[in-house]
Parts: sequence; C-alpha cells; structure tokens
Amino acid sequence: MNPADLENLLNGFKMMAKLELTLAALYKACAAAWPEERDFWADLEAQEQGHARNIGEMARLVTEHPERYEGHRVFFQPKVLDRMLADLKARIDDVAGGRADPEAVLRFARDTEQSLINARYDEIVKTDDLAFERLVKDIVVANYEIRHQLHTRLAEVQAEKRRRMLEELRPGDLLAELPADLSRETFETLLETGAFRLERIVSRGQATPEGRWLESDTHEWVMVIRGRARLEFEGVDAPVELGPGGHVTIPARRRHRVTWTDPGEPTVWLALHYA
Ligand SMILES: [Fe+2]
Repeated sequence: MNPADLENLLNGFKMMAKLELTLAALYKACAAAWPEERDFWADLEAQEQGHARNIGEMARLVTEHPERYEGHRVFFQPKVLDRMLADLKARIDDVAGGRADPEAVLRFARDTEQSLINARYDEIVKTDDLAFERLVKDIVVANYEIRHQLHTRLAEVQAEKRRRMLEELRPGDLLAELPADLSRETFETLLETGAFRLERIVSRGQATPEGRWLESDTHEWVMVIRGRARLEFEGVDAPVELGPGGHVTIPARRRHRVTWTDPGEPTVWLALHYA
C-alpha cells in the first residue's frame, strides 16, 4: 500500500473510531437518563468502546505492515459521516436534557447500527492478516447483535406502550360484568368530572320502600339497558315503564320512586347525574 493510501486509510480509521466513541457516548447518556434500563445501555456503551479499541488496533497493524494491505475504500463519505456525527450529538443533548423519548432513541440507534452494518467493515481493505481480520469480524458480528438487541428492546417498548394505551381506554362490558351478589342494589361510578357523574346501577327486584320518595339536588338522566323497571313521579298519575333502551330525565328535586324492578333478572341502569 502506498503512503498516500495508507494516510487515507488511517484517516478513515480515525473517523470510524470517533463514530464508535460518539455512539458509546449516546449509550452512556441513555444509561444515565433511564436508570431502570441502565444495564442494557451500559452494555452497549462498553461494546462500542471495544469497537473503538479494535479500530485503534487495526490502525496499528496496518501501520506496522502496510505491505500486507492493498486497495481500500472509504467507510463513509466525509459529508455523510459529518451528518451522522451531528445527528448523534443532537440525540445525546436531547437524552442528557431529558427531552428524548426512549422509543425514538431506540429506533435511531437501531438505524445507526444498520448504517454501520451497511458500511461493510470487512470490505474496507484487502489483507491476509488474520489478526486484522479477527478484529474486523468482531465488529461486524457485534453490529448485527447490537442492532438485534435494539430492535428487540424497541418491540418490547412498543408493546408496553400499546398495553398502557389499552389500559387507559378501560374497556369493559356493562352487561357481562355483573356483581355476584344481587341481594342488594349496587351503585358503581363509571366516569366522574366536576360537571357530571355517570353511574351503573344493578337491581333485581328492589324498589323504594313504600311511602318514601327519592329526591336529589342534581338532575338525573336514567336509562335501562337490560331488564325492566317502573318509576312513579309525584304529581304524575301514570307510572313510567322502562325496558331496554328506555330512559327518563328527572329534574333536580323532583320527587320520585322506583316502584318495581324485575325480580327474575338483573336490571342494569345507566344514571347520569349533572348539575
Ligand atoms: Fe460499534
């Protein structure tokens, strides 16, 4: 290998070592930012430090015996490499500043490792030097492994995110999930804000005791979604019969009673209390 090529190659090694160290710095920042994931990131950091050492060792071997090496190509065009370094540094700042989303960092790191795989370390220079080839092979194998680790972790983080989003939706079935004990009426708040409270009521055969009226300071809209019920309102002769889908709006302080609910099956109500 002629001196000019050697100089270019050594320059390339320097840049690659810098890239590996910057990647190590990103993983170090992640380990500090996300203590619960510290081991995962610290392991990646150590591996990237190792790659930078490998590259230093490779440079040493080439410098000692340039005659054993021939032909070389660049790892990355300088412009591309500058962009990668700038992107990495911006990510490090975001992570250190607490502005980074772990999922986005995992995706970025995985894609960066993929670029390193695409750079084909094993085609950079031709040689029969076994020690050199071992160092290169270490890096190539590790790049595949690290990308796989990042990809696996990313899939886990995404699955966890989907699980949390589903949990937030609190899916349920008002008709299927009934209380085991129906000997008493049950009241369960489904949603509540300063403006309203939405409640599920499950009855079976219960009624307001004879001679008593119900009266509330808030308006109430009730609907029967299963079963049957009968209500009576003070000053209204005809009772209001409710079956599935039936509803009635009870103004605040309007005296009323539930005179009957079906004793043969659960009656499920939705009650919306609002000011
Ligand atoms: Fe690496």
